[in-house]
Amino acid sequence: MTSMAIDDEPIPVHRRSIALVGLMGVGKSTVGRRLAKRLGLPFADGDIEIEAAAGMTVSDIFAELGEAEFRAGEARVMKRLLAGPRMVLATGGGAILNSDTCAALKARAVTVWMRADLDTVAQRVQRRDTRPLLRGRDPLEALQAMAEVRYPIYETADLAVDAICEALETWWAAAEITT
Ligand code: S3P
Repeated sequence: MTSMAIDDEPIPVHRRSIALVGLMGVGKSTVGRRLAKRLGLPFADGDIEIEAAAGMTVSDIFAELGEAEFRAGEARVMKRLLAGPRMVLATGGGAILNSDTCAALKARAVTVWMRADLDTVAQRVQRRDTRPLLRGRDPLEALQAMAEVRYPIYETADLAVDAICEALETWWAAAEITT
């Protein structure tokens, strides 16, 4: 059992950050950026912040230091971001696996699970080769294995949206035309 640190004390909803959670490839960064712009809030991308803190790419951290080190760094970065001012935050797909991160997200953010059908996500992730957990693996099988472990945690998010990036992009574009 983890004890609740003082900075994990729940804060009022209107002061909470908005944290997008969900599997890799669902569009958290793209949507997060757009959402932040529309809400006039700062945006942070967990992976970019980790890379800046480490001075290495996510791929290099996995290759040279291993996943455990990556996860430890990820937890530190998430803690720092969630302790800071209100923002829109795109979390790395595995960030919620850390129980401290999970507790901080619950206390300090409105969490939104971006949920998408795995076949579509498998196609999307093949466009880039930046995700170490997919390297040398069948993307659909890898995503299914991740979903099995992570969906029970993602399901505890405050909100869930059924969407993939393209669908949301279309929606945002339409909203911009009509508002
Ligand atoms: C990971 C997701 C990636 C990145 C790393 C590990 C995961 O972030 O943090 O490759 O465990 O699902 P995105 O979800 O932004 O791709």
